[in-house]
Amino acid sequence: MSANNHHARYAHIVGWGKYVPPNVMTNEELAKKVDTSDAWIRERTGIRERRIATKETTASMALYAAQEAIEVADVDPNDIDLVIVATSSPEFIFPATASIVQDQLGACNAGAFDLSAACSGFVYGIGLAAGMIRSGIHNNVLVIGSETFSKLLNWKDRATCILFGDGAGAVLLQGSDEYGGILSSVLGSDGSGGELLEIPAGGSKNPTSIETVMANMHFVKMNGREVYRFATRIMVDATKEALEKANIPAEELDLLIPHQANTRIIDYAAKALNLPPSKVFVNLEKYGNTSAASIPIALVEAIEDKRVNPGDHLVFVGFGAGLSWGACALEWTEPTIRRATTPQRAAQSKLRYQWSHVKSLGHRVLRRVDAGVSRTLDRIEGKKNGNGHEE
Ligand SMILES: CC(C)(COP(=O)(O)OP(=O)(O)OC[C@H]1O[C@@H](n2cnc3c(N)ncnc32)[C@H](O)[C@@H]1OP(=O)(O)O)[C@@H](O)C(=O)NCCC(=O)NCCS
Repeated sequence: MSANNHHARYAHIVGWGKYVPPNVMTNEELAKKVDTSDAWIRERTGIRERRIATKETTASMALYAAQEAIEVADVDPNDIDLVIVATSSPEFIFPATASIVQDQLGACNAGAFDLSAACSGFVYGIGLAAGMIRSGIHNNVLVIGSETFSKLLNWKDRATCILFGDGAGAVLLQGSDEYGGILSSVLGSDGSGGELLEIPAGGSKNPTSIETVMANMHFVKMNGREVYRFATRIMVDATKEALEKANIPAEELDLLIPHQANTRIIDYAAKALNLPPSKVFVNLEKYGNTSAASIPIALVEAIEDKRVNPGDHLVFVGFGAGLSWGACALEWTEPTIRRATTPQRAAQSKLRYQWSHVKSLGHRVLRRVDAGVSRTLDRIEGKKNGNGHEE
């Protein structure tokens, strides 16, 4: 990859944002629901507490995180080409959560779709967005990870309900001729391990029925030990591969931002990769595993902690159900000192989103009026043609 190549486009992260519900559930509180203890959870996972959505949904959290990312990037929502929401807890089977977010952002010129790759989803989204930007197809792509796993957990199953939490994170990727940004993408899947981590019902194979509900088949099911074994191996391999593909020597990695599932998995990988704690970002003690949202939330917090600086080499690495995994290496280019938001700019943004909301409502009303008028016209036409055809 050469900076002399005039046609080369690079995909830089120019905006970032996160949202976590204010409602905290500590291990002690969990221990009142299931047979577990704060000591067990902390020792086996590193988790102390997690956030649980109350009024929030996957779409509303995605929207908050995206709005923050757009503010940081200072980009007009009309200039966004694509909205990707990586999620395994979408608002609905369809429409896509991404379409809801696109509408509420007023991103009128954007395509939108959900990406289903479980906890690897955000890294998959980054790989996809970077590919589109680097090929010149799109210029501004919003990649969001948003999850409300609390709705998919069996709160009586201590093996799974202790692990997950809710939240959202977002980045805006933008094209530039300047070298840097996302430099490699590694995506992988081993579907033979599908049943190790799954939600067996609610899809087309086992549609919702009284039987599936009675059998708790709409909840997360996991073989923790096998997933653990897979995670430790894949985090190391995928990180090495992402660095190699980006031509970044291992010793030049400044910060690894791994999927936040379990400190033991992260510690194992850090040791195998010869990385001191200062080069690995961990915040899962506060949030648990937020699936596709964990890496973007961690990125935002790493930036807030001043652990990301222009020129730094970063790797994002994720793994999860599928089985799936993904990693990407990047050279960070954007100044991380946030411009202070002036009251005028804040008011402008608020007005812009309120206006998008009104426009969206207007579109819905117009669609109904249009349907009603078309029906009436069809009826009149039908009578005129004498076919008396009624709908
Ligand atoms: C889930 C996980 C923490 C369990 O840890 P572990 O050390 O493998 O524990 P085990 O499943 O072997 O269980 C050990 C014992 O603790 C018990 N136990 C399980 N969950 C418990 C809990 N929440 N509280 C107390 N005890 C628990 C088990 O019943 C078992 O008891 P037993 O020895 O009497 O049978 C671990 O397997 C893990 O982190 N796996 C990866 C999961 C993951 O990250 N998934 C998401 C990927 S995106």
